[in-house]
This record gives sequence, C-alpha cells and structure tokens, in this order.
Amino acid sequence: MRTKNISTNCVVLLALLFSSVTSFAQQSHIGKLTGNAKQGKALYRRYCIFCHGPYGDGTGENAPYMDPKPRDFTKATFKCRSTPSGSLPLDSDLYDTISRGVHSSGMPSWRPLTRQQRADLVAYVKSFSSRFEEEKPGAALEIPPAPPNSAESAKHGAELFESMNCWSCHGKEGRGNGPNARTLTDSKGYPIVPPDLTSGMHFKCGDSDQAMFRDLMTGLDGTPMPSFSDAVKPAEAWDLVHYVETLHLNAKKGILVKAEPKGE
Ligand code: HEC
Ligand code: HEC
Repeated sequence: MRTKNISTNCVVLLALLFSSVTSFAQQSHIGKLTGNAKQGKALYRRYCIFCHGPYGDGTGENAPYMDPKPRDFTKATFKCRSTPSGSLPLDSDLYDTISRGVHSSGMPSWRPLTRQQRADLVAYVKSFSSRFEEEKPGAALEIPPAPPNSAESAKHGAELFESMNCWSCHGKEGRGNGPNARTLTDSKGYPIVPPDLTSGMHFKCGDSDQAMFRDLMTGLDGTPMPSFSDAVKPAEAWDLVHYVETLHLNAKKGILVKAEPKGE
C-alpha cells in the first residue's frame, strides 16, 4: 500500500513538473530567432501584466479603464493575422503586432525592446493557450503584387464597397457610421465601432496597402470585421484597397468617389 502511495505521488509530482515544463518549453521562431517562454515570462511581468493580467486573460489592473480591452490570450483569438479566419496566427504575426503596437488602442509599440526580447514575449504569449500545442496555424495568405492604383480600380472598389455591404457598418462615405455601426460587439460582448476610413490610413494591423489587403482577406478575428477571401478575388481586394485610399485622400479635398449607376 505504502509503496503504491509513494509511486502515485511520484507520478503526480512528475506530471506537475512536466506540465510546468511544457508551458515554459513553448518557443517561437521568427526568422533566425528562437524565443523562449521562460525568458518571456520575466519580460511579460515587467511590461505587459498591468493590462493583459497575470493569467493572460486580459484582466490586468488597467483593464477596467481601457476601451478596447486588452487581449485575452487564453482564447488565442487574434485580430492581426496572415492566416485564414479562425486559424492561429503565425509567430511572425504576433511578433509584428508586438513590435508595431495596435493603432487606436492602448497597446503600445514594443520596438524599444530587443528583437530577442520580442521573440521571447511571443513564446510566452503562446503559452497561455493550449491551442498552440494542439493546432498548427493555417497557410499564410499570399499577397500578389498590387496592380496600378488607377481611377478605374478605385471606381470598381466603390462598386464592391456597395455590393459587399461594407457600407452597412462603415457608412456610405466610410466614416464609420453605417446603419449597423452602433449595434456591433466583439467576441467578448464589448461594443466595437468601425474605424473612420476617411481619417487616414492608420489601421490596427498595419498601415501599408499590403496590410489592408491582408485584413480584407483574413478578417479581424474576434470582431465583426469578416474575411472576404471567399467573396472577392485578389484583384477585387486590390480595388477595395484603392477605393479606401481614395476615401481618405478625397475627404481631405472634399470630394466623394461614387459608384457609377448601373446601365449608364
Ligand atoms: C497599456 C496597456 C497594454 C500594455 C502595457 C500591453 N498591451 Fe497588448 N494590448 C492592449 C490592448 C488594449 C490590446 C487590444 C487592442 C485591440 O483590440 O484593438 C492589446 C492587444 C495585444 C495583442 C493582440 C493583437 C491582435 O492581433 O489581436 C498582443 C499579441 C499583445 N497585446 C501583446 C502584448 C505584449 C507582449 C505586451 C508587453 C510587452 C503588451 N501587449 C502590453 C493593451 C496593452
Ligand atoms: C459587419 C460589419 C462590417 C462589415 C460588413 C465590414 N466591416 Fe470593416 N470593420 C468592421 C469593424 C467593427 C472594424 C474594426 C475592428 C477593430 O476595431 O478591431 C473594421 C475594420 C476595417 C478596416 C481596418 C482594419 C485594421 O487593420 O484596423 C478596414 C480597412 C475595413 N474594415 C474595410 C472594410 C471593407 C472594405 C469592407 C467590405 C468589403 C468591410 N470592412 C466590411 C466592421 C465591418
């Protein structure tokens, strides 16, 4: 009896040891860098815990005062991904987000940290969800070269903005005031508003044309902003990008590009 007890205890102890080792064994791979969760933990406790919380569930001390709320890492749902909607992000997606910060939110840019430190943080962020041990991220979206930004492309983009119902959330003029805008909530039930697309090309997941193309094709998971990869062809996604750019440029000049009425 006695020996059995001792051996069960040993098993429990080993299991405990193993589980803490596995979460610490979480790694990230960004180019030639390998990040380690153990090092990431110390950095996290110093820089991230106040917002994202000790358990990574987004309930840090500052969270009650923040809108949008800090991300809950235990769900492994991320806005900025190059992978399909519903998939885990790539390590490089998390690395880019941590480096860039998230525009129009409290999430700062962590570029002042070294690349190794940011890679370690990616590994630690991943250790909050077992999904990173159980699943593989989907294939990264291929971004074809952008066609020239012509008036024709922007006009076709305007038509798509209409027919794909972007306006229902973003508003006819892209000002973030569509008929559905005030009723939207994120996956945690918090109200969320579409950005004013006329105010400039500052987006959460990057400001480049390529970033906007990717956002349209992969969606911002956990938000009402869907993926359009099944609905539009790559050339059409570029037309939308060109149209959104025009919205901003023309808002500055007080012009509005309209879709041409059908049959004229
Ligand atoms: C001052 C508060 C604050 C601090 C400090 C902070 N974050 Fe954030 N973080 C946020 C908020 C708020 C969001 C959600 C932004 C949004 O949803 O638009 C976020 C989102 C994120 C995301 C998810 C982005 C996505 O694609 O969904 C990651 C990853 C992240 N933070 C990592 C970190 C790491 C690592 C640190 C520490 C080095 C850190 N954050 C420190 C507030 C903070
Ligand atoms: C059901 C409502 C809804 C529809 C339909 C919708 N969006 Fe969005 N979109 C949103 C919301 C909400 C956000 C903000 C997400 C956030 O703040 O995290 C957003 C964000 C964006 C962004 C900024 C992405 C970033 O990185 O910050 C762009 C660009 C955009 N939408 C373009 C479009 C286009 C173009 C269409 C149509 C093809 C469209 N959206 C359709 C709700 C919608």
